Amino acid sequence: MRVTMIGAGYDGLVSGACFADFGHDVTCIDKDAGRIAALRRGEIPIFEPGLVDLVATNIQQGRLEFSADASGIGDADAVLIAVGTPSRRGDGHADLSYIYGAVREIAPLLSPTAIVVTKSTVPVGTGDEIERILREERPDAEMQVVSNPEFLREGAAIYDFKHPDRIVVGSDDARARAVLAEVYRPLYLNAAPILYVNRRTAEVIKYAANAFLATKITFINEIADLCERVGADVQDVARGMGFDNRIGAKFLHAGPGFGGSCLPKDTTALLKTAHDHGAQLRIVETVAAVNERRKRAMARKVVAALDGSIRGKTVAVLGLSFKPNTDDMRDSPSIPLITALHDLGATVRGYDPAAMEQAKPYLPDVIYCGSAYEAAEGADAVVIATEWEQFRALDLDRLRCLMVQPVIVDLRNIYRADEMKRANFRYLTVGRPAAERSLETVAPRRRKAGGAKSMTAELAEAL
Ligand SMILES: NC(=O)c1ccc[n+]([C@@H]2O[C@H](COP(=O)([O-])OP(=O)(O)OC[C@H]3O[C@@H](n4cnc5c(N)ncnc54)[C@H](O)[C@@H]3O)[C@@H](O)[C@H]2O)c1
Repeated sequence: MRVTMIGAGYDGLVSGACFADFGHDVTCIDKDAGRIAALRRGEIPIFEPGLVDLVATNIQQGRLEFSADASGIGDADAVLIAVGTPSRRGDGHADLSYIYGAVREIAPLLSPTAIVVTKSTVPVGTGDEIERILREERPDAEMQVVSNPEFLREGAAIYDFKHPDRIVVGSDDARARAVLAEVYRPLYLNAAPILYVNRRTAEVIKYAANAFLATKITFINEIADLCERVGADVQDVARGMGFDNRIGAKFLHAGPGFGGSCLPKDTTALLKTAHDHGAQLRIVETVAAVNERRKRAMARKVVAALDGSIRGKTVAVLGLSFKPNTDDMRDSPSIPLITALHDLGATVRGYDPAAMEQAKPYLPDVIYCGSAYEAAEGADAVVIATEWEQFRALDLDRLRCLMVQPVIVDLRNIYRADEMKRANFRYLTVGRPAAERSLETVAPRRRKAGGAKSMTAELAEAL
């Protein structure tokens, strides 16, 4: 089949490359000519494991091409739109200007019987508006507009695309359903269930799924707060809950709050949609508010780990992207964390295996380092903000020798308290018993001058 993807970002590029890998002829179109030129040179503008090879193989085998020009889309069996739908500045609604802009651009170029598929995450009713625009621009045509939301996770995007839990096709039209069945046929043969629903239902499914995942994360984060106060271990609690099939083990990892390019903007957009339609989603409202407060409040853990003051101290933050295996910095929890550390008077040294260039515009005052160890040099505390594999087995002796004092704040719970105790670290986690040790017992290698403001005063000032 001939598939055209409009938008070659995280979603469009991965989906396009995977469709090509299934054997379809795919053209990815992006209005960013620089991005297209880079892709044609074999340079992949995003970090996603396996994507470089997947794109190269499919270009080489003649099934994948890139263009900044949409004039050839009249031949496509399906045109999928995967442009961005970020939060609209000022009110938090999904910004649909890229979607409607793309639809108006392609409308005159589409075949009169085109199947136009929305892969972007869009609020309920967006498909109706796309259909209205197409009718307005092409009154003679018989096009179909389908909702086909994407559920892939950055960092595991290729695997997720090829092994989806389900494929959702939102359309009542038999011809459109048949085309989508053919587009996804390779997955259907792998027994991936295809759920045919009406278009509005498909649009709601995507937001409901993301809001539910956000709720699960936020729930376990609040349970972690309780665990810290009562001496319980949130990881064991999560395990004890997760074995229950009605609950499931996934998305029960306590941490610094959810971030990334999807969950924050999608929960906010869902709330706006609900509000517009006079429905109240109180649970989602609370989830969004609790999560927002949590991200910045993580700095409080660092303050506590350093006996109440971080002014004049140096904190090394390991991991800047919102999760491992991606360079995506959109709404990363490291941003409010590091901003709060700066507000409290700390110097921040940072390292991320993939996201440092992307981090710089968001976090210009960080001292960027070439490795976790370089970041730890002269630090009063190391904060693990993202659980990249390479942070899971750090040489703790080497780390301790580099630091001013042996303090680790593990916001992803990737170490065990007993190993940290053995390695002589003060170790704070999220929702697990800490490995306590007095910092007075070790003569600090070097302490910087700095005011010793009380923790309460500093927090009142900055958090
Ligand atoms: N990133 C993810 O993991 C993910 C997962 C599931 C769903 N989604 C959804 O997919 C959509 C895209 O997200 P993304 O992360 O890929 O965004 P992105 O910003 O990485 O990519 C969007 C691309 O669309 C291009 N574009 C914008 N207008 C265009 C136009 N008129 N014509 C051609 N190209 C145009 C941009 O230049 C950009 O390259 C969003 O709705 C998002 O919510 C994303």
